[in-house]
Amino acid sequence: MEKRQFIKDLLLTGIALPLGLESIANAFANQEKNSPEALAQDNAFWEELRQQYILKPDYINLENGYYNFLPQPILNKYIEHIKEVNYQGSYYMRTVQWDNKQKSVIALASIAGCSPDELIITRNTTESLDTIISGIHWQAGDEAIMAEQDYGAMLDMFKQVSERHGVVNKMISVPNHPKNDQEIVDLYKNAITAKTKVILVSHMINITGQILPIKKITAMAHQYGVQVMVDGAHAFAHIQFKIADLDCDYYAASLHKWLSVPLGAGILYVKKEQIKNVWPLLADSEKDPNKIRRLNHTGTHPVHTDLTIPDAIAYYQLIGPAKKEARLRYLQQYWTSKVSGNPKIILNTPTSADRSCAISNVGIQGMKPSVLAERLLKEHKIFTVAIDYANVHGCRITPNLYTTTQELDQFVQALNTLAEA
Ligand SMILES: Cc1ncc(COP(=O)(O)O)c(C=O)c1O
Repeated sequence: MEKRQFIKDLLLTGIALPLGLESIANAFANQEKNSPEALAQDNAFWEELRQQYILKPDYINLENGYYNFLPQPILNKYIEHIKEVNYQGSYYMRTVQWDNKQKSVIALASIAGCSPDELIITRNTTESLDTIISGIHWQAGDEAIMAEQDYGAMLDMFKQVSERHGVVNKMISVPNHPKNDQEIVDLYKNAITAKTKVILVSHMINITGQILPIKKITAMAHQYGVQVMVDGAHAFAHIQFKIADLDCDYYAASLHKWLSVPLGAGILYVKKEQIKNVWPLLADSEKDPNKIRRLNHTGTHPVHTDLTIPDAIAYYQLIGPAKKEARLRYLQQYWTSKVSGNPKIILNTPTSADRSCAISNVGIQGMKPSVLAERLLKEHKIFTVAIDYANVHGCRITPNLYTTTQELDQFVQALNTLAEA
């Protein structure tokens, strides 16, 4: 859809108005002729978006990877939803709860690029992937492939199914600077045997931000009859893609990360033909083996989080997925390009456009990551997170749309100072 038309529609349907976004909608509409890459460099333009966040003055926050806290328009909608659900009480829960949740599913499916019949809302990526890992009909001796750079909770669940069902886990290690896509595809391919049932692969590795060539891994795996489950915790609403294009069997993401939904929402995509092959984590009254709702029993949960999903989607679409991705990548490349010549500063992330976006990881020669994180915070008032395992030794650096280049200049100066000492 044309951007101008989209914004007009938003304004007409009143979605932008209650979000208080007229000025930002107009600002984006006025920028339509600029390419996302050109707009990415227009700092004055992004300053307007920064005004929608209430930022703690105590430090520069370069740890937006755990939780993308909410800009004020989404927070205000969230509070409204909490009040409304509290006002209606059980009446809400017994009447429109499920219809409203389904509306959120439909909105999510449209940005995820899949059918609503293949998507459910969970609490987070962990719940989504653990549903699959624990729910596959395992036989003793089945093999699963994963990387030591994958997220710990999923690796723990694989350890549990290994103890419980005799599954053999095969661990690979993804290089921080691969030569090309084929090197990554071959790593997974070389671990496949006749007993391999599934590959777990991160779309964007959590500790480095490296983007993996999912489509190529999936195409290769399917030639061997191996299923692919993708951990997209950091990719969804960060980089652009459609789940259907990836052709994976399962895809999971956390919406409280890059979509800026309040804490406690995620998605699980299960390819239509795989739905019947998964046991639910919590049993549901839906017994049709092909209905994804069978996998979505939650018990009573904070429905106002689900209700805020369409608001967060409206906000994301107002910014524009291409513009968001381009700005986030610009911010990463802005600072990484300034330190890449310093031999004492080690970048643990490939910085090219196809291999990373906002997130990257940096270390200083001879300095433990925990010391680097502590000194960045204490001496330079910059908040990051230390990573020190799986061949990654450095701090994960995650700017957000509100981050300014001045803040990144301060960060670069801090790195240079610490590297000199
Ligand atoms: C790659 C990856 N997978 C899974 C998770 C877990 O996300 P959640 O705690 O929302 O389930 C994270 C969290 O940072 C992550 O980075």
